Amino acid sequence: MLSTVFLACVLALASVAHAVPGNARSSPNFNATCNEIAKAVSSVSEVFFPPSPQYAADNAHAFASSSAPSTCSVEPGSAADVSVILRILGETRTPFAVKGGGHATNPGFSSTSGVQIALARFDKIEVHSANGTVDVGPGLTWDTVYATLDESAIGVVGGRIPGVGVAGLTLGGGYSFKTSQYGLAIDNIVGYELVLPNGTVTAVTEADGDLWFALRGGLNNFGIVTKFSLRSHPQGQVWGGSIEYGSDQLDAFKDAVITYQKQNDTKAALVASVTYSPTGVVPSVVMFYDAPTQGGIFDDFLSIPAVQQDVSSRSYSNLVSSLSATNPPPGFSGFMNGIPVTNYSSTVIDALVNQTIYQGAQLALLSPNILIAAGMEPFASTLFTHGSASAYPPDRSTAVYPTVFGGAYTDPAAAGAMARALREGSDAVHAAALADGQDLSRAAVYPNYALFDTPLEDMYGANLERLRTISKAVDPEAVMGLTGGFKF
Ligand SMILES: Cc1cc2nc3c(=O)[nH]c(=O)nc-3n(C[C@H](O)[C@H](O)[C@H](O)COP(=O)(O)OP(=O)(O)OC[C@H]3O[C@@H](n4cnc5c(N)ncnc54)[C@H](O)[C@@H]3O)c2cc1C
Ligand SMILES: *[C@@H]1O[C@H](CO)[C@@H](O)[C@H](O)[C@H]1NC(C)=O
Ligand SMILES: *[C@@H]1O[C@H](CO)[C@@H](O)[C@H](O)[C@H]1NC(C)=O
Ligand SMILES: *[C@@H]1O[C@H](CO)[C@@H](O)[C@H](O)[C@H]1NC(C)=O
Ligand SMILES: *[C@@H]1O[C@H](CO)[C@@H](O)[C@H](O)[C@H]1NC(C)=O
Ligand SMILES: *[C@@H]1O[C@H](CO)[C@@H](O)[C@H](O)[C@H]1NC(C)=O
Ligand SMILES: *[C@@H]1O[C@H](CO)[C@@H](O)[C@H](O)[C@H]1NC(C)=O
Repeated sequence: MLSTVFLACVLALASVAHAVPGNARSSPNFNATCNEIAKAVSSVSEVFFPPSPQYAADNAHAFASSSAPSTCSVEPGSAADVSVILRILGETRTPFAVKGGGHATNPGFSSTSGVQIALARFDKIEVHSANGTVDVGPGLTWDTVYATLDESAIGVVGGRIPGVGVAGLTLGGGYSFKTSQYGLAIDNIVGYELVLPNGTVTAVTEADGDLWFALRGGLNNFGIVTKFSLRSHPQGQVWGGSIEYGSDQLDAFKDAVITYQKQNDTKAALVASVTYSPTGVVPSVVMFYDAPTQGGIFDDFLSIPAVQQDVSSRSYSNLVSSLSATNPPPGFSGFMNGIPVTNYSSTVIDALVNQTIYQGAQLALLSPNILIAAGMEPFASTLFTHGSASAYPPDRSTAVYPTVFGGAYTDPAAAGAMARALREGSDAVHAAALADGQDLSRAAVYPNYALFDTPLEDMYGANLERLRTISKAVDPEAVMGLTGGFKF
């Protein structure tokens, strides 16, 4: 299962991803900033230097290519200390990075040669049963949140794979097993605690028009979030898990995906993947049903002969934990890209399969350790109707399926070829969907899947101007321009 359910992989030309504005401190002085921070923060926070184990942990990411050797790391323990740190970084114009779960798939998005902020100490989960909300810290990963909430029989709308961070997933939008039922992660936020770029600690709720709009999909452009308040939902046992098939079952798999899309049961979720192998793609599925049994919607997938199968009635957190092999294998670098489509038609599935094989075979000529896979994510047609206007998606009027195309490698020399393969393959599938008659004019690329060179217009569409205006107003000194990621 290791490399096969690999729905989310990806990499990078580190240099293009995070150019830092001109007047940044030269690198010998980064250490001076580190020491200034160490003196200024309270005792709940700490600065670490290489080669301490804390420094190593703070710099670690799921993809090796998403890590960089920072000058030091800092683990803030309070919003007040995040404020102190952000002010010093802004005043000294020192490049920095903010890490939540460390699953960024682009180099430099949560890594830096300057100051690595790791939010690990923001690890509190507070259940407020009186008003049905849960406050979670940005240092948590979703699997930990689910494991804690299972005890109280409540659930939240978050990530599907262990290790993925609450922070990054939620700042980009957030696709969940519960998205057909309740919308994106951002559609289930009731408030944020945010340290603004100028260091002011503030609460953001629906009453704050611009920041409320911008934070829901606008990534790390508006400050550092120190608390997410989530709406909770009742959560009982669920049904689901994963199945891997032989390459010879591709036709049956394809038919099952097409049939699955014709239903509207919002309690069901599916990720259907094809992974490159030298003898054809390996199909696999992750299935989810928000009840202890499924009523037949997944029978087609269950009737195809399986190579490996782990499907049962289980707790929500057990289901998510069972998917750990979907993570990149240790030591792999990688990137992802998003290919938004409105229909996993026969033509689109064929194009995804063809590109997985074609790009995989090209890359395999260059390097032996290559993984490449495409993940189809059909949701209910109503998936975007659960929330109000937000940075992403720029258009909520039609259903769009995000579709991840990802790759991983171990030889650093393969980075450029991998990025090109993902771009080329995505463009080919996009062209096939257009030729198939799909209207993709309102289909935005999911920012959390987007390859580093994706134009902002492709992710934010008509929202881009408003986001640029908000960014100028909230961050006139471009402090958040000192950290990596897609910048408005
Ligand atoms: C194996 C795998 C599975 C995935 N599964 C899903 C999925 O099911 N659904 C989905 O929607 N996406 C999924 N993704 C994509 C995922 O949402 C993004 O990779 C996301 O950025 C991960 O967040 P993180 O906190 O782990 O990452 P990080 O690398 O820690 O951060 C990502 C970005 O967020 C910024 N950031 C982090 N914390 C803060 C903060 N507190 N304030 C401001 N900015 C912050 C960082 O600076 C960085 O730019 C998956 C990715 C992988 C690799
Ligand atoms: C940075 O500062 C720390 C703490 O003062 C010190 O231990 C370390 O040697 C310095 N590193 C460099 C590269 O100057
Ligand atoms: C829910 O209750 C908690 C605890 O009383 C409170 O701090 C929080 O502001 C409330 N949230 C909402 C959205 O009412
Ligand atoms: C699913 O919903 C769409 C849109 O509401 C509708 O056109 C379609 O007939 C529904 N399909 C089923 C199987 O109910
Ligand atoms: C998806 O595409 C297929 C084949 O082109 C078509 O028959 C089907 O109606 C489409 N479904 C939707 C929801 O557009
Ligand atoms: C498969 O992809 C290759 C490379 O992009 C392309 O040349 C070929 O026409 C594709 N084949 C099909 C059947 O789409
Ligand atoms: C910090 O920024 C916010 C948002 O733009 C603004 O309201 C506030 O006045 C600023 N604070 C200071 C001290 O400049």
